[in-house]
Amino acid sequence: MNTLKIERHERVVTVRLHRPHVLNALSSELLAELLDALRPLDGDPDVGCLVVTGSEKVFAAGADIKEMAGKSAVDMAAEDYFAGWEEFAGLRTPKIAAVNGYALGGGCELAMMCDLIIAGESAVFGQPEIKLGVIPGIGGTQRLTRLVGRAKAMDLILTGRTMNAREAETAGLVSRVVPDDHVLTEATEAAATIASYGRPAVTAARESIDRALETGLRDGLLFERRVFHALFATEDQKEGMSAFKEKRTPAFKGR
Ligand code: HXC
Repeated sequence: MNTLKIERHERVVTVRLHRPHVLNALSSELLAELLDALRPLDGDPDVGCLVVTGSEKVFAAGADIKEMAGKSAVDMAAEDYFAGWEEFAGLRTPKIAAVNGYALGGGCELAMMCDLIIAGESAVFGQPEIKLGVIPGIGGTQRLTRLVGRAKAMDLILTGRTMNAREAETAGLVSRVVPDDHVLTEATEAAATIASYGRPAVTAARESIDRALETGLRDGLLFERRVFHALFATEDQKEGMSAFKEKRTPAFKGR
C-alpha cells in the first residue's frame, strides 16, 4: 500500500492516511487502496470499529487537486469521479474520524462520512472549493448542511473560510474536542467502547440516527420503534438485560 497505513488492535482497526508530501490529498489511488483494505474487514465479525486518522499536521487537505485539474466534464462524468466515496460512507462498520490539523474540502467530507468526529484543539475544518472555481463534490453541500444547518453551511461554502475545532463543535460537526496529543487515544478508546457492544444494536442505532437526517419525524419514530422491537430477536438483547439483572458485565456475541 502506498497511501495508507493500517493497524489492527483487538477489535479496532486504525487507518492512517499517508501521503505526507501532498498533505494527505485524497487521490484515486488512495480511495482504491482504502476500499480494497476495508471491504474484507467490513464483513469481519471480529472488527468492531474503524478509526480514520491522518498526521499531526493534517487529516486531509482535500481531494487531489493536481489529479483532477486537467480533467474535462466528460472525463469527470465518465469516471463518475468521487462516486467510490459512497462505498466508504456505506461501510457497515462504525467509523470514527480522529482529526488533527487540516480537514479541508474532501478531508472535511471524509470526516463527515464517519459516525463520530473527534478533533484536536488545533484542528481546522472547511470547504474551500469555491476558491478553486468548483463546489464540494463528495457530499459537502449535503452532509454539512444537514449537520450544521443552512446558515453555517452557506457561510462556510460560499466564503470558503475555515472554522476551528471549537466552532465546529458548537456548530454540531464535531463530537468531541480534546488536546491535540490526545486525539488518537480518545478516538481509539471510543472505538474500543463501541466495538465492545453487540453489533446488531450498534448497527440499529447508527441507522436510526442517520434516518433522522433523511426522513420526517413520524417515519423516523416508526423506524426506530420497529428496529427496537426487532432487537428483541437477538441473543445480545437477552444477554444485555440478563447481565443487568444479575449485576455482571454482558458478553455480547454480535447476534
Ligand atoms: C493536491 C495538495 C493539496 C490538495 C496541498 N497539496 N493540498 N496537493 N491536492 N488538495 C500540496 C501542495 O501543492 C504542496 O505541494 C504540498 O501539498 C504542501 O502544501 P502547502 O500548500 O505548501 O502547505 P501549507 O502552506 O502548509 O498550506 C496548507 C493548506 C494548503 C492551507 C492546507 O495546502 C491548501 O490550501 N490546500 C488546498 C486545500 C483545498 O483547496 N482543498 C479542497 C480541495 S478540492 P508542493 O509540491 O507545492 O510542495 C476538494 C473537493 C473537490 O477537496 C470537489 C470538487 C469536484
